[in-house]
Amino acid sequence: MIVPLYVFALLGSTLAWGGLNQWHELSANAEAGSGGADSCTCDAFLPSSTFPVKDLAVVEQAAEQISHKLEMEMGKIEDYEMKMTQYAEKIIELTREIELLEKKPDANSDATLENMELKIKQVEALVEDLKISFKTSGTVFQSLHQEITVMVKSLDQLEKTHDKNLVLQTRREYIKIQMELEECERRHQEIFNPNIGSCDHTGIIKVSKPLVSQLNAQLGTSYIYGGWGKDSKPIPDRESMYWFSGDSSIYIDDIRFYSNYKNLVLRNPFLHHTILNGWNGLGSNYIVRGNTLYYQKYSPFGLAKYNFTSMTYDSRVIPGASSTFSYANYENQIFDFAADENGLWVTYATDQSNGKMVIAKINEESFGIEEVWETSVYKPAINNIFMVCGVLYGVRTVDIQNEEIFFMFDTKTKEEKHISIIFERFQDKYSNLDYNPTDQKLYMYTNGYYVNYHLWFNHTATATVQPPFAPTQI
Ligand SMILES: *[C@@H]1O[C@H](CO)[C@@H](O)[C@H](O)[C@H]1NC(C)=O
Ligand SMILES: *[C@@H]1O[C@H](CO)[C@@H](O)[C@H](O)[C@H]1NC(C)=O
Repeated sequence: MIVPLYVFALLGSTLAWGGLNQWHELSANAEAGSGGADSCTCDAFLPSSTFPVKDLAVVEQAAEQISHKLEMEMGKIEDYEMKMTQYAEKIIELTREIELLEKKPDANSDATLENMELKIKQVEALVEDLKISFKTSGTVFQSLHQEITVMVKSLDQLEKTHDKNLVLQTRREYIKIQMELEECERRHQEIFNPNIGSCDHTGIIKVSKPLVSQLNAQLGTSYIYGGWGKDSKPIPDRESMYWFSGDSSIYIDDIRFYSNYKNLVLRNPFLHHTILNGWNGLGSNYIVRGNTLYYQKYSPFGLAKYNFTSMTYDSRVIPGASSTFSYANYENQIFDFAADENGLWVTYATDQSNGKMVIAKINEESFGIEEVWETSVYKPAINNIFMVCGVLYGVRTVDIQNEEIFFMFDTKTKEEKHISIIFERFQDKYSNLDYNPTDQKLYMYTNGYYVNYHLWFNHTATATVQPPFAPTQI
């Protein structure tokens, strides 16, 4: 979507007459991008069948209401896209007029300039209007997620007391709604946040409410150890793939792959790999990147990788890594893998560092360590870490409901600092937390549930590529 860039550029640039050169650049972009706005056609799903079971009927009714609200939001997104196109056209028109004026400087009467200024103010007002509607949508998405979370919990409950097949039908309807909501949100984010993959920011400033997907593939609440998410560097044709691995013990035995989100929540894997004897894993801070699972090896204690393209294993022993310093939540969380815009990382603590966390950059092909950084954060005092743009973020518990991102360490500058970004937990404990650079979301596995969070960053890029109204209000 090219259109928003120069709408943002318009707002970001000073609308003074001295800035005419900027208008030339804008006009070049604008012409290349005109007509680039695809029309948006999301059809909201309305559940058709009703069931004799009373509780189920309530859940179904709620599905219908949620679906209706979603339909309204989808309508708004179409509206945004239409407005974007209109603004772009207005900008092109203005640019042409300015060019004409520049060619005939003698004709620049005050009246013409005033008229032009008025037109620019109009576009500005339109952008402001768009900004306000955008903020409202964010709030609606959030409450829809909350409603769905409540209903998914009811469904899990109903599945225990009613005919599973009957419940499955309703569950499918919810899955459909959930997928539509995510699609709607994705499109919304694409329009307003063309910054996926960019590191032009100074760090995280906000975390959303927890967005709960489903109970895990095993439907087991005892499956508290595990992880889920998307490949952070997918191989071709696996871009929409999700993975899940979970267990009621801290050992890693297997991993399942799902072709897309729908198949993840329908518990319908297309691949199920079991880890070979002798290559068993321990701990739950593994990650999937480049169709390869990176995990903590049970014996000999170290790092392991399982490449699902070549179906080969590899391992490394890390000299100095201590096997005694786990995270606060569970035992045996020694090596924590993380992936971000800059590649693959692993964190651990050493005896030499007295349990303070060490960050190592991993070369994915050779599986060797390229560089190591020492931080001042005591590993057993925290619950988990993740990396974004080469910056480590440490997370701890602050109270019964909330977590806090309290620490950051920048591997580029070796600078560290204490921060405080509070976010809500969905369950009391979690065994896996990771950032995914492909969608800039946090993925959490908590007491058997798949949960994710949106992140917002403090953007620093220039106005030509940066929306002046980054969605920080959601
Ligand atoms: C996995 O194996 C494939 C096929 O041999 C290879 O091309 C790829 O680089 C390997 N990936 C990693 C991360 O080692
Ligand atoms: C965002 O970054 C700017 C510039 O580095 C800084 O002054 C500001 O305090 C930051 N905002 C937040 C909310 O962290």
